[in-house]
Amino acid sequence: MQLIRRSFDVVKNRAFKKLTTANKLRRALQEFAVSAALTAEEKAVITSVSPEIHPNDTMYSVCLSDEEYLCAGLSALRCIVHCLNRAPVRRDMRTILDFPCGYGRVLRFLRASFTHADITVCDIDSQAVEFCGRVFAAIPEMSNQDFRKLSISRNFDLIWCGSLFTHIDELASTHLLRFFRDHLAPGGLCVFTTHGQLAAESIEKKLNTFGLTEDGQQQLLSGFQKRGYGYADYPGRCGVGTSLISPERMRALVASVGEWTEACYLEHGWDNIQDVYGYTVSHVL
Ligand SMILES: C[S@@+](CC[C@H](N)C(=O)[O-])C[C@H]1O[C@@H](n2cnc3c(N)ncnc32)[C@H](O)[C@@H]1O
Repeated sequence: MQLIRRSFDVVKNRAFKKLTTANKLRRALQEFAVSAALTAEEKAVITSVSPEIHPNDTMYSVCLSDEEYLCAGLSALRCIVHCLNRAPVRRDMRTILDFPCGYGRVLRFLRASFTHADITVCDIDSQAVEFCGRVFAAIPEMSNQDFRKLSISRNFDLIWCGSLFTHIDELASTHLLRFFRDHLAPGGLCVFTTHGQLAAESIEKKLNTFGLTEDGQQQLLSGFQKRGYGYADYPGRCGVGTSLISPERMRALVASVGEWTEACYLEHGWDNIQDVYGYTVSHVL
């Protein structure tokens, strides 16, 4: 009997936490919707942003406030709109890929902005893919550790890749870029982010260690300074860590996978920390 009561309490507590989290985010969204810092268009988007948060959303749990979480999503949307306005691309984004979707930090803004688009979500975390597919009416696709083994048989007008190049080494980045290049529809736009000079300075000044040991930080900085691409695994893990990439090195990698054109570059444009690149393929392939 006691066991039943205890498991009932666990379920009840989880449901209560979910509800209070959604209520907190809803309140933060309401405050955003009247903020003078937002344009009228952005305010309209905010009214449709879902407040639902998955308990495993570490992007949410590491934030100091709900506003911080929403700011990251809104900032991503601003970067995408900025690139769209500068790129010679089709205006009606009918097919969108959010890769990696995580638990929808940016996706909730994409869903609210591109209301008629078919959005595909992809991640290596199956719970994240399931959650995003269900809550944001998106098409779920599972990823692979080896990007050469990815199999998605559609092309996309818009690909958003927030904070994945920031965690992988140079070879994996090349494979991922090739996948994106090969899955852009004619006239499509791919927007992706990296850590660059600003993140390097924050490691040098010991403001942020990005989860690395002292040796890892030195390896990362040395690769960045010598070759323009630094990478180190997280302690005890293999193939996932932190990277630093210079614009020159990123452009060389981009050029190595095929023909596409840089439409915009925003130094630490995403959330005041990650560099943002926008690449397009021409209307006629
Ligand atoms: C820092 S989070 C960013 C998530 C999301 N883009 C956001 O901004 O909230 C990195 C994400 O990459 C995912 N990931 C790691 N390796 C991956 C892979 N090989 N394929 C797809 N996703 C991967 C993780 O599961 C995690 O959700």
